[in-house]
Amino acid sequence: MSGPNTDYDPVEVTPLKSEEVEAARDAALAAIAGATDLEALKAVRIDHTGDRSPLALANREIGALPPQARKEAGQRIGQARGAVNQALAARQALLEREHEERMLVEETVDVTLPTDRVPAGARHPITTGSEMIADIFVAMGWEVAEGPVIEAEWLNFDALNLGPDHPARTMQDTFWTDPTENHVVLRTHTSPVQARTMLTREPPIYVVCPGRVFRTDEYDATHSPVFHQVEGLVVDEGITMAHLKGTLDHFASSMFGEGITTRFRPSYFPFTEPSAEVDLTCFVCRGAGRTDDGSSCRTCRGEGWIEWGGCGVVNPRVLTACGVDSERYSGFAFGMGIDRTLMFRHGIDDLRAFFEGDIRFTTAFGSDIS
Ligand code: DAH
Repeated sequence: MSGPNTDYDPVEVTPLKSEEVEAARDAALAAIAGATDLEALKAVRIDHTGDRSPLALANREIGALPPQARKEAGQRIGQARGAVNQALAARQALLEREHEERMLVEETVDVTLPTDRVPAGARHPITTGSEMIADIFVAMGWEVAEGPVIEAEWLNFDALNLGPDHPARTMQDTFWTDPTENHVVLRTHTSPVQARTMLTREPPIYVVCPGRVFRTDEYDATHSPVFHQVEGLVVDEGITMAHLKGTLDHFASSMFGEGITTRFRPSYFPFTEPSAEVDLTCFVCRGAGRTDDGSSCRTCRGEGWIEWGGCGVVNPRVLTACGVDSERYSGFAFGMGIDRTLMFRHGIDDLRAFFEGDIRFTTAFGSDIS
């Protein structure tokens, strides 16, 4: 900092000359008046009031003047800076007001204009289909039960009387989790939910259990390593195969319409005794085996029936393994593929349509099944 210089003539210091100060002020005022938006005004503010602006530099020079000259120069520059700051503030307020008014006009939403709507999407057909199936049973007073998809080997197999040598336990059919010594699998069917239910509640039991299951199957038009089943389980006093037949007939006609019924063929499942394969009246030829033009029905190959699932009277060994008194109680159980059931109901000929995520497929069901 240079000290005061007694010989110093303020008029000699160029930036402090009154015409220079006025010129700097007028230039600033003109620039402010010429700024047509807030962005431009910001630049003007930096140029004309910033540290390197003529008026700021002049202000700094005041200190170098002899004391008697400082007052006048200070006043001159102070007035000029005041005028500039005032003009800036006024312009800022004006431009802000204008900006706001313009935004209000530009951002107005005309709610009457037609728009391209984003599709709302649809729930997956397996979800709505599973709920629809569950509702048929809920309407009869049954409850919906669920179990985990990652399941203990014991519940998936042993509790259901699937001995260690049963073919379904071999590596081909089952996804085992690592390390296999933990005996944990991706459930291969919804039947473990039967065991879980019997282990956790007392009869009478009336439950329906829809869910996802896993098998090491090839992915093709009728198989997928991930698919869906619905399990039914009843345990009560005096339950017979006749109750099972009546229940499945009701399930069939609720799902496929009046006149669609079921037929049982003797079969074997370790967890039921006796066991049966359930067939459904062919929903295309409605049991006739031939179509209107007299040719053999292609869907059921002229049989009049198509395979639907498995069922039977709960094996007393399963009741006992799950802590149910098999002297007092008996029960029935069944298991169907949900995907397969929905394919029948909607004439879908390729299972993969459920899993490929084509929104056109899903949307068609969004309003169909609900
Ligand atoms: N769990 C069997 C399967 O995945 C289906 C099944 C058959 C379930 C008979 C049952 C039943 O509850 O009683 O092939």
